[in-house]
Amino acid sequence: MHVIGPQNGQRRDHLTPEHCSSDREHWSAPGRLAVGKARRRPSSWLQAKDWDMHVTDLEYVAESVGFRDLRERVLGLARLRATDRVLDVGAGTGLLALAAAPHAASVHALDVSPAMCSHLAGKFDRSGISNARVLLGNATDIPLADGAVDVVISNYCFHHLGDGEKGRALAQIMRVLRPGGRLVIADMMFRIAGASGRDLALSARFARRMIRRGPAGVLRLLKNVIRVLSGCGDQPADVDWWRETLVRAGFVDVSVASLAHEGGIACARKPASPVRLPGE
Ligand SMILES: C[S@@+](CC[C@H](N)C(=O)[O-])C[C@H]1O[C@@H](n2cnc3c(N)ncnc32)[C@H](O)[C@@H]1O
Repeated sequence: MHVIGPQNGQRRDHLTPEHCSSDREHWSAPGRLAVGKARRRPSSWLQAKDWDMHVTDLEYVAESVGFRDLRERVLGLARLRATDRVLDVGAGTGLLALAAAPHAASVHALDVSPAMCSHLAGKFDRSGISNARVLLGNATDIPLADGAVDVVISNYCFHHLGDGEKGRALAQIMRVLRPGGRLVIADMMFRIAGASGRDLALSARFARRMIRRGPAGVLRLLKNVIRVLSGCGDQPADVDWWRETLVRAGFVDVSVASLAHEGGIACARKPASPVRLPGE
């Protein structure tokens, strides 16, 4: 089993099921969450997510049409070369890392959850993938050396970080990328309580979907509202935030596009030579 890296910074966020276009009923279904020694805490829907409890759920989601489509988009934009050293941030059960490994020199699959890491390490072993390693750690403190990777990829991890944490993770990505290295991030890209047409349309679509499900859906909607208000829900940022933050972090060739659903994809490159950031 290839689990490496410090046991630092374990983050326990909460994840809502409705992002992307596929059915995610199973995200919070009780009884599907038996992984390792993880235990369910009381009122866990109002607490930060314990990712160790959600390995099985994430396997289901990784099978969804929506996530498969995102995988193809991310890897298509990453244009991996056989010499590339790749880092997958928030690798989960390996949706991107497993597909990237045959096309790259090496893959580091970073995740904050020890259970996800153990599970993915087992998948690497069983698949005979010898050029991939899991890396236990936080996106805000990536346990890799400066310039250690050529390409960073990520799918649906960043909305579990607050904006400040996203910024710190992007600074870490900038650090571990080699000069000229590239970045492709897919994530939810809208503001939950935002006022743009897209924000409002997505929130309304989610509310309608929940209401159509009757009392259980309404309850779920209320829980989501309370979680967002209490600061333990998802924290997606919109396309403008991503564009501005990537440019401010010093990335070049920045392009950020929204998708037909709530997702978006950001692409950028670390400059080939050092640049001065605004204010430096
Ligand atoms: C929705 S899952 C996506 C997993 C995978 N990328 C995929 O597409 O199936 C989010 C993943 O991000 C991980 N994660 C959440 N916060 C993190 C952080 N601060 N640093 C690293 N990983 C994190 C979780 O443990 C989880 O595996």
